[in-house]
Amino acid sequence: MKNIIKVRDKEFSLFISFEEIDTAITKVANEINNDLKGQTPLFLVILNGAFMFAADLFKKIDLDCEISFVKLASYTGTQTSSIVKELLGLSEDIKGRTIIIVEDIVDTGITMESMIKQLKEKEVKEIRIATLLFKPDAFIKKYNIDYVGMKIPNDFIVGYGLDYNGHGRNLKDIYKIIE
Ligand code: IMP
Ligand code: MG
Repeated sequence: MKNIIKVRDKEFSLFISFEEIDTAITKVANEINNDLKGQTPLFLVILNGAFMFAADLFKKIDLDCEISFVKLASYTGTQTSSIVKELLGLSEDIKGRTIIIVEDIVDTGITMESMIKQLKEKEVKEIRIATLLFKPDAFIKKYNIDYVGMKIPNDFIVGYGLDYNGHGRNLKDIYKIIE
């Protein structure tokens, strides 16, 4: 495990080791296993960033569950100011289901809010949110986040699924930008 790495044009220093990530995931998995005992939730993983977290999380989930993967496509609407994040890839009928959204990081909270809004329109029974990382100082929304692996300061990070301009997702540990 290196202490300083370069991803494209930026330098990053080691911030969270996989060992610490793994401990946080175990905590989240235990909470979900306890809270949803006897239920059959549908996990919706938000691609691309959450793929690595999801893979490690589900190995620790002992519920009877379904797992599916979705994407949120950002595009600018007809009015240049309105940014819509359209939910893509949802093929299941989710009416009446308990949904657990799996995300790598909640930053401003805008992405997650857009996801919640679109799921609510489909008359789900309940929505819960699980995120590996949360930046409380950047969060500008009001909704509750049910499962948080780790709260982190408002710095740009890379690794463990998170990217810098598409690169660095494959890193096993999480690195913080050196300003
Ligand atoms: P939000 O809509 O501001 O909450 O941003 C959420 C999305 O931005 C996440 O799903 C990530 O893909 C991305 N993101 C937020 N913070 C970081 C970071 O520090 N590094 C890499 N990607 C990030
Ligand atoms: Mg993401």
